[in-house]
Amino acid sequence: MSLRLAVIAGDGIGQEVTAEAVRVLRAIAELSGRRIDFEMLPWSADYYLQTGITIPPNGYAMLRDDFDAVLLGALGDPRVPDNRHARDILLGTRFELDLYVNYRPVRLLDDRLCPLKNRGRDDVNLVVFRENTEGAYVGVGGRFKAGTDDEVAVQEEIHTYKGVARIVRHAFDFAERHGLTRVCMSDKSNAMPQGHALWQRVFKQIAAEHSHIQSSHMYIDALAMALVTDPRRFQVIVTNNLFGDIITDLGGALQGGLGMAASANIHPGRTSLFEPVHGSAPALAGKNVANPIGAILSAALLLEQVGWPDEARRIERAVESSVRDGATTADVGGSLGTSDMGQEIVRRLRAGG
Ligand code: NAD
Ligand code: IPM
Ligand code: MN
Repeated sequence: MSLRLAVIAGDGIGQEVTAEAVRVLRAIAELSGRRIDFEMLPWSADYYLQTGITIPPNGYAMLRDDFDAVLLGALGDPRVPDNRHARDILLGTRFELDLYVNYRPVRLLDDRLCPLKNRGRDDVNLVVFRENTEGAYVGVGGRFKAGTDDEVAVQEEIHTYKGVARIVRHAFDFAERHGLTRVCMSDKSNAMPQGHALWQRVFKQIAAEHSHIQSSHMYIDALAMALVTDPRRFQVIVTNNLFGDIITDLGGALQGGLGMAASANIHPGRTSLFEPVHGSAPALAGKNVANPIGAILSAALLLEQVGWPDEARRIERAVESSVRDGATTADVGGSLGTSDMGQEIVRRLRAGG
């Protein structure tokens, strides 16, 4: 069966890394005798500045109904300081398609890339499940007397039983499916005793249904430290939207740099969205230096999700062998440009079978 993909390359290096992810997807489709139809959507800062449209009115419904999955580069442009288009296109799609699982694997591909002293591949291999539809991202709040010395700003966090339970269950189910034995929930319930007490209650309840899995809790500040001092402690981390955002940039660094980190925004069984963890890196844009591996590995996550696991593995193997041989972009020690990197993966796919 053929695959219909929507591609939102977006802004800055999003354009460049997405071109390489698409190149790799085209190659794997050809190599496996399958078909992928791509629809390139122009939604970006440029498009917004030209048309006043961030995402068209039927945009979310179109993504959900007309495509098997969405591949996204990055959104963010200094010319749109309030980030409105990113909120509508990226956060809007997460919310409107109810993509409640933000899956962000943190896997070091080569010891050489490890920023930690005396650590290597065996020490950095974990996954983060970030709740992706509520928490601090709901945009509930407002400003009173804005711009004056009496300004009051309110930005609420919202946590619901349903929202917390479904991401926590997903984390435990993932551990079960992958033979993992440890799940750690992280919050800040010592300082945020309302919303994060709900996380505590739900986590304990669901952990009790999985008594053979070791469940633990860490406050997010302690967890941030432990990720650096002893990442081996972690197999599966589940946390709220904001904390998950922050620790997965740290996770990017543990993989050698943000350019290496992949992610998936998933509602199991429905059209989902795949994107690297990094942003549009305006300073690198247009220079053919951005690392496309995070985007390429996100494309592999996409194939896995839509039921092409063999093709996903082949891409992952090609990336791993490139990284092991030092055939990478400069941010992770190599000398390839963005497009050479994509071509290198394709070459290895063709050679590796
Ligand atoms: P960023 O992720 O764009 O960059 C952070 C650092 O990582 C920079 O030093 C950058 O050069 C480096 N980096 C990032 N990706 C890289 C890659 N592929 N190869 C090599 N180096 C890479 O974060 P930022 O600078 O805080 O944000 C820039 C813009 O991107 C902002 O507008 C922000 O809102 C947006 N953003 C978007 C997304 C997204 O669309 N998913 C994610 C994060 C940030
Ligand atoms: C991410 C990004 C986004 C987020 C921004 C661009 C709104 O940082 O996907 O990690 O905070 O979720
Ligand atoms: Mn982020």
